Amino acid sequence: MDRRLENKRALVTGASRGIGAAIARRLAREGAHVALTYVGNPDQADQTVKAIQALGVKALAIRADSADAVAVVAAVERAVNELGGIDILVNNAGIAIISPLDDFRLEDFDRILAVNVRAVFVATQAAVKHMRMGGRIINVGSCNAERIPFVGGGVYGMSKAALVGLVKGLARDLGPRGITINNVAPGPVDTDMNPATSDFAKLTVERFMALPRYGTGDEIASLVSWLASAEASYVTGANLAIDGGYTA
Ligand SMILES: NC(=O)c1ccc[n+]([C@@H]2O[C@H](COP(=O)([O-])OP(=O)(O)OC[C@H]3O[C@@H](n4cnc5c(N)ncnc54)[C@H](OP(=O)(O)O)[C@@H]3O)[C@@H](O)[C@H]2O)c1
Repeated sequence: MDRRLENKRALVTGASRGIGAAIARRLAREGAHVALTYVGNPDQADQTVKAIQALGVKALAIRADSADAVAVVAAVERAVNELGGIDILVNNAGIAIISPLDDFRLEDFDRILAVNVRAVFVATQAAVKHMRMGGRIINVGSCNAERIPFVGGGVYGMSKAALVGLVKGLARDLGPRGITINNVAPGPVDTDMNPATSDFAKLTVERFMALPRYGTGDEIASLVSWLASAEASYVTGANLAIDGGYTA
């Protein structure tokens, strides 16, 4: 594999498993040193860190609940200190709480916004203080920012739609500093959050997919690594669908 991220320093949030772990491994395979955050699964985080270190780059795991703004800033600072700087921030940590309107709890509304939106802003604000020209912010959004063909996903969809507006605005702040900010918007991806074996998955594939299958974390990581590279130097403020045609 092309080592187009040789010696770059990256922080990937929510990367002990799932899409985040695939992104962290991919950036490392391309030569980047990687810090990752997790919230409740230290063994899994440790396993991912060991797999990354085996690729010959630096790696560390930082426990930081994205709902806690102080912890998010501390995670950025620790990544900067241990890796000697930061060139790439991937805001991947996210939660999906799906519940019909009548039952939706206000505390779940607040937690979704704190993790999926506020943490993205907080981590970005903290990271860009340390970024030089060529810095990269990449957020993991969702196809559900554009289409939610099921009951109970309104708040999750709203949180991912918020990222579309956020990157458009922040692209203007960061452009003059030579830093790009973009979203990738995955369709259904086989992870603990959304296993490809569920009844929900069967329905999704039958009814909504142009490519009739779930995606993999590695497929999402491939777009993220391209956005992180110099090849994507003229892309900013974009929301890039990678969804197997879910929104086609
Ligand atoms: N899977 C899909 O179909 C799909 C589709 C579109 C978009 N997305 C988005 O992709 C991102 C990753 O999803 P995924 O499917 O890989 O999720 P996942 O399988 O549930 O994995 C979530 C990862 O994030 C960490 N995490 C969860 N809550 C956190 C918090 N409050 N603070 C810090 N870390 C936290 C988890 O750490 P622990 O291991 O410690 O719990 C884990 O590493 C999310 O933003 C999600 O909305 C997913």
